[in-house]
Amino acid sequence: MNAAVTGTKPPGAEDEEQAARWVREMFGRVAHCYDRANHMLSLNLDRGWRRKTVERVRDVMAVPGASVLDLCCGTGDLTLALSRERGGAVMGSDYSRPMLDGAAKKDAGLLFEADALSLPLPDESVDLVTCAFGFRNLVDYDAGLRELRRVIRPRGMAAILEFSHPPGRIFGALYEFYSLRVLPKVGGMISGDAAAYSYLQTSVKKFPGAEELARRMEEAGFEQVGFERMTGGIVALHTGRVAD
Ligand SMILES: C[S@@+](CC[C@H](N)C(=O)[O-])C[C@H]1O[C@@H](n2cnc3c(N)ncnc32)[C@H](O)[C@@H]1O
Repeated sequence: MNAAVTGTKPPGAEDEEQAARWVREMFGRVAHCYDRANHMLSLNLDRGWRRKTVERVRDVMAVPGASVLDLCCGTGDLTLALSRERGGAVMGSDYSRPMLDGAAKKDAGLLFEADALSLPLPDESVDLVTCAFGFRNLVDYDAGLRELRRVIRPRGMAAILEFSHPPGRIFGALYEFYSLRVLPKVGGMISGDAAAYSYLQTSVKKFPGAEELARRMEEAGFEQVGFERMTGGIVALHTGRVAD
């Protein structure tokens, strides 16, 4: 599905620079109510999806001295969960200052402002990179995967949790109705920003399917690539390792 999609394209954006600015400003506007809207709109399922992600990356985090980056960390819920699991702070990066401020209030980790497409980190310097619900907002998915691959050390791992496309026809149709008709309206009411929640759901619909993202991870140089669908395929956790 959507094999030709190179990256996110918000309404009115004519190039990647405008697209990135639109997305960044949009998250800046909704940061104050992001957590509340997230939990309400997902019926709290988002907490379980992040919990499962932490379980799946435990082995890499258990390596003594492992360095961990939560990319597009936003208000830091996954960063905090990873820090707790590790028993010490992990890094969290995002390009939206208001979202990072939310993470700082939770003392979620070692936070820094950075574009996921050009991280201020040396090659092969991190053992684990996670990214929850941020990846589909990148303006160039393949460039994002190459950047992940660049910073991850041999034997390290990438774990991308993202919305996907439920494979079941009936459940898929119900979900599409909820996500395209109900969710933007309710999200708009909670945040006062209908355009933001309309974009967020359209970006889910346009995002490549799980098989396609797995193929692109392999193309970017990851090995042992796999994915696990959750909640009927509403979301998928993608993992890939870097060879020794
Ligand atoms: C939907 S939020 C997810 C936040 C958090 N990971 C979570 O699980 O709730 C997406 C985040 O990705 C960030 N983001 C999107 N594109 C980015 C980019 N190119 N570089 C850095 N952060 C980006 C946004 O600022 C936003 O905070």
